[in-house]
Amino acid sequence: MMFPHAPALPEELDRLLRRMRLPYLRKAAPDVLATARAQRWDPAEVLRVLINEEVVGRDAATRRLRRSSANFPTGKTLASWLTEDSAIPEATQNALATLEWIGRAENLVIAGPSGTGKSHFTEGLAHAAIEKDLKVAWFTLESLTATINKAKVDGSTARTVAKICRCDLIVVDDIGMLPAGDDAAEAFYRIVDAAYERRSIAVTSNIHPSGFDTIMPKTLATATVDRLLHHAHLVLTKGDSHRLAEALAGKGVVPLA
Ligand SMILES: Nc1ncnc2c1ncn2[C@@H]1O[C@H](COP(=O)(O)OP(=O)(O)O)[C@@H](O)[C@H]1O
Ligand SMILES: [Mg+2]
Repeated sequence: MMFPHAPALPEELDRLLRRMRLPYLRKAAPDVLATARAQRWDPAEVLRVLINEEVVGRDAATRRLRRSSANFPTGKTLASWLTEDSAIPEATQNALATLEWIGRAENLVIAGPSGTGKSHFTEGLAHAAIEKDLKVAWFTLESLTATINKAKVDGSTARTVAKICRCDLIVVDDIGMLPAGDDAAEAFYRIVDAAYERRSIAVTSNIHPSGFDTIMPKTLATATVDRLLHHAHLVLTKGDSHRLAEALAGKGVVPLA
């Protein structure tokens, strides 16, 4: 029940709610109080409903903030993901979608050809993690390397790595599309090592992790893959590019007028 003309809060109450920084409670209060008066609520119920408004509002704000600071590439979620269009077995998709593996600090490595949904599925899982009040950081290997390189300049590498590892899920998308130099291998190693057995890392790649030593310096690659795979779900995609199939079917663009 909404009261379009619910009386405004008394000035003093309004001032106190502002001072205590209870914006969601303050916004809901006129309606809640009008309803409570009309329906003779128990005072404890009034208090519960008001505090609940604040809790729900704050949780939603936190999720919004986390969603924007995660740096997602496209905004694609599992809502637009077609289970049956993917080469990943349905049972595997469902098990990963529970996100229980994140609670166990296990890793996810999705390897397969370009256009087979690796990034979309990973982003869908990452969005779902935000909805479950988890913290996510999304990187490509390039953006991770740039972040670590920047930190090296002002000597804040350790702090930057620690900050990234405060996230429950750290995504490194698209390893292997471009050759990775020493800097990229080092950045990747630092994150995988710092997150080892503490946080979940999700990696997508067009090459199998056993071949990472062909795109980055061998010693670092071996040490990284060793830690990455120790507690990891390795998922292989296959098939033709979904992108190419859509393009060939004329579904890649909106027809010109
Ligand atoms: N199972 C699927 N359901 C819905 N869209 C898909 C699916 N697989 C791929 N796509 C779409 O195909 C395109 C390529 O997928 P993407 O995740 O970028 O591939 P990859 O990261 O493996 O190169 C994207 O537009 C993605 O949304
Ligand atoms: Mg991709």
